[in-house]
Amino acid sequence: MQFSINDIKPEQLHTACLVAGIFAGGKLAPAAQTLDKASHGYLSKLVKDGALEGRSGQHLLLFKVPGLSAGQLLLMGLGKEKDFNLQAYRKVTYQAARVLSDNGAKEAASTLPLLAVSDTDAYQRVRHAVEATAEANYRFDQCKGKKDNHKPTLQKLVLLVASRGELTTGEHGLRDGNAIAAGVVLAKNLGNLPPNICTPAYLANEARKLGKGGKLKVTVLEEAHMKKLGMGALLAVSRGSRQPAKLIIMEYHGGPRNAQPQVLVGKGITFDSGGISIKPSAAMDEMKFDMCGAASVFGTLKAVMQLDLKINLVGIVPSSENLPDGNAVKPSDIVKTMSGQTVEILNTDAEGRLILCDALTYAQRFKPAAIVDIATLTGACVIALGHVVSGVFGNDDSLIKELWNAGEKSTDRAWQLPMYDDYQEGLKSNFADFANVGGREGGAITAACYLSRFTKEMRWAHLDIAGTAWKSNAEKGATGRPVPLLVQYLLDRA
Ligand code: BES
Ligand code: MN
Ligand code: ZN
Repeated sequence: MQFSINDIKPEQLHTACLVAGIFAGGKLAPAAQTLDKASHGYLSKLVKDGALEGRSGQHLLLFKVPGLSAGQLLLMGLGKEKDFNLQAYRKVTYQAARVLSDNGAKEAASTLPLLAVSDTDAYQRVRHAVEATAEANYRFDQCKGKKDNHKPTLQKLVLLVASRGELTTGEHGLRDGNAIAAGVVLAKNLGNLPPNICTPAYLANEARKLGKGGKLKVTVLEEAHMKKLGMGALLAVSRGSRQPAKLIIMEYHGGPRNAQPQVLVGKGITFDSGGISIKPSAAMDEMKFDMCGAASVFGTLKAVMQLDLKINLVGIVPSSENLPDGNAVKPSDIVKTMSGQTVEILNTDAEGRLILCDALTYAQRFKPAAIVDIATLTGACVIALGHVVSGVFGNDDSLIKELWNAGEKSTDRAWQLPMYDDYQEGLKSNFADFANVGGREGGAITAACYLSRFTKEMRWAHLDIAGTAWKSNAEKGATGRPVPLLVQYLLDRA
């Protein structure tokens, strides 16, 4: 997909299809009004005749509108003008791309970036149009035998801006939008791959591939090395699997030599059966998505490299399968973590925190400016927050605020859950320093409390993406979240 920006007047633009908007109640958006004038009231007459009301989700495709240079005009319903925020803007740019491809358009030009959207400038409107269009154009057909199904036709989109000045800010939006979209696509592809292909070794190779450009230093630690480091928790998870665990470390140096890095740690369970504490079989297939935290680290690194961000960034991915086996870790087993603390594994299905805790301890050696872990950690987080926002936790309010802000700006939102000390009590164990699970209630919080015991010396936050990393049912597939949030967070630090 190729995007460009232009400040030409829409009525003069030669394109196969021009996209414009109309608000609920039949009010044409300013650009559409200009087109209406150029067509001597053709559009307002149609609206008056009831052809289109402007509700969100509505659209009307017109051919050969008099007075316009464009071959077709696609009018998109924008919904109520007073509700037209960034979220609504993304939705309509997404829908427009869908309609264009449904109608076989190969190239088009959109006036939607000219719309007034509260608290945005041309940078944001261009960037989000790019991201949403890429979203609409995404297909995952790597594993299909027949590749011709529903390929998107749209290949070129011109985004219109108002002035010379907006051309410059819009150009930045184009660059950032393209990079974020590329990161999201990578995260989606990795997430969507089946777990017989996307194993820990596959992810390690993916890291090496990312490193090919020469901008990343990639290190993969094998189990023997982890054993030497004392990573008893990570290794406990991989015991039940024939696939050896990998600890993948990716270092990006874009900033000053001795500037402390941002560190991202992503949960990379390539399949989570629960282990001996086995899961029910309904929807167990979706546990291939249990490496979406890892995928978001890969995607974020991809975007950061594409943008040449002037920061130092380390991505760490502990990766394993979680399977039952004669050699698998058992409920009541006690292991020693790299931190020296011992853990009683009361539930082998709480494996994410076990691989993360050793990775978090390992991360300390990079002296992070801040460390953020990203994990499809708990079903309880889905119950608490649904599929709209990710859960954010941490030991530093300013860091949590920065992540929250990044979520708002990127429309990839997160919401804080509390971490009062009272919640720590659930993790008590009679036999080890603590257990790996608390009760069912507040499960997303006790999981975060467990991780907090390994991050005391760092500015740390945790994103629970169990509800946001993928969609179920007919739309089943990885979302690429929270790549947009993470890239925004890093853009704001660069
Ligand atoms: N990967 C799961 C979390 C999960 C479950 C994400 C369902 C999305 C949908 C994680 O490893 C897990 O199994 N967590 C347990 C923790 C429990 C045993 C304390 C859970 O949420 O049930
Ligand atoms: Mn699990
Ligand atoms: Zn899991």
